[in-house]
Amino acid sequence: MPPTDRPSPNLYLVGFMGTGKSTIGRAVAYRLKYGFWDSDHEIEKREGTTVAEIFAAKGEDSFRRLEREFIESGHDAQSSVVACGGGLVVQEGMLDRLMSRGVVICLHASLETILQRTSTNRNRPLLHVDDPMARLRELYTKREPIYRKAGVVILTDQRPTSDIISHVMRVYRREVAERSKPRGKRQDAT
Ligand code: S3P
Repeated sequence: MPPTDRPSPNLYLVGFMGTGKSTIGRAVAYRLKYGFWDSDHEIEKREGTTVAEIFAAKGEDSFRRLEREFIESGHDAQSSVVACGGGLVVQEGMLDRLMSRGVVICLHASLETILQRTSTNRNRPLLHVDDPMARLRELYTKREPIYRKAGVVILTDQRPTSDIISHVMRVYRREVAERSKPRGKRQDAT
């Protein structure tokens, strides 16, 4: 258990590849004095191999199963920041599962920014194709409605990292405060 005074709801960062979930998540966890978990990294540790190898050897469905297992039993249930792989939340029922376990915030960036940020990373097998921009568009079209349901979406394009970190912390704290109010007194999240 990380060194906090009392356990607090987890923060789950979701959103497309290359939106900064790991970088922002690690920084937010440090500031909140929470544990930090990166679903890809935890799966790689558990399986002893890379995400790309898991996709190649066992297929995407197996990887998605590992993501579900990570959410069900692979991380602390409180006082943690969790950076979720881009496809984790797209699976049936996963968004509701995350929302029941903590605060969910979606990070967003334009596809141009995402292409630029992901071009040198080998751990995104879904983009190992001749035309990664076409693949990004196709995935984005399918996923966007689900990411939007996460409620709070924070833009990360052309903003200093420190701004994004403060924004995420502000929203997280507000959501936690809302959760501690009696149901009738809660505001809708914006
Ligand atoms: C994926 C995103 C990746 C990783 C895997 C699949 C996706 O994580 O889980 O390559 O389906 O969007 P990041 O979002 O951290 O890049």
